[in-house]
Amino acid sequence: MNPVKHVAIIMDGNGRWGIKHKNSRNAGHKAGLNSVEGVINECIKVNIKHLTLYAFSTENWRRPKKEINFLFNLLENFLINKVDSLIKKKIKLKFIGEINKLPKNLKKVIKNSELKTSKNLGLQVNVALNYGSKNEILNSIKLINKKNIKINEKNINKNLFTKGISDPDILIRTGNTHRLSNFMLWQISYTEIFFEKKLWPEFNLNDFRKILSKYKLVKRNFGSI
Ligand code: IPE
Ligand code: IPE
Ligand code: MG
Repeated sequence: MNPVKHVAIIMDGNGRWGIKHKNSRNAGHKAGLNSVEGVINECIKVNIKHLTLYAFSTENWRRPKKEINFLFNLLENFLINKVDSLIKKKIKLKFIGEINKLPKNLKKVIKNSELKTSKNLGLQVNVALNYGSKNEILNSIKLINKKNIKINEKNINKNLFTKGISDPDILIRTGNTHRLSNFMLWQISYTEIFFEKKLWPEFNLNDFRKILSKYKLVKRNFGSI
């Protein structure tokens, strides 16, 4: 049986869910938060060490400004309102991506929530925000050059946003789309990938548990036999 240390999720399908049920994409983003809380609680229950959630990609700036603002506000309020309950659950929050390029207020709340949860030893939730894998890899190579050290696998790993975090064992993409959308391209070289038809707000505990049990039975070869 494979142990699960790290689950990564591309939470896709909020907009479609929102249009279908409430005639508003933003309503879908709001509903998606319930799925986030459900998955977090389950990860704690089954002792998963890392949960990485793709919240906003470097390409998502192409969306209408109104939607981007809504997403950022939603996250900001979530962090403000939930940080105490996250601390109670021993969750450590970490943001991966170009955080510096985000609006000032959001940045402040992010830094604060990272600081407040930094001593927690339970589940680590990595939020990929203004994250793009190509940007991350390029950035790693630039840092290596600056430090004047060798370009090798170990040093590339050590200079990614995900430094110190083991590669995901499982990647889930909801929303019935079979692509990676610039997410963790370096880190998922041997990850087991699960594409889920359901839209993110519909994704429930049963769906998550089914994936975890399927994963446990997979024979992971890592190139061997
Ligand atoms: C994914 O849901 C969440 C974010 C990018 C924030 P979408 O907003 O992409 O939903 P669909 O794919 O348009 O339904
Ligand atoms: C991927 O979803 C990004 C996030 C879930 C944050 P998108 O909806 O942005 O992906 P594409 O554009 O359909 O590939
Ligand atoms: Mg989408």
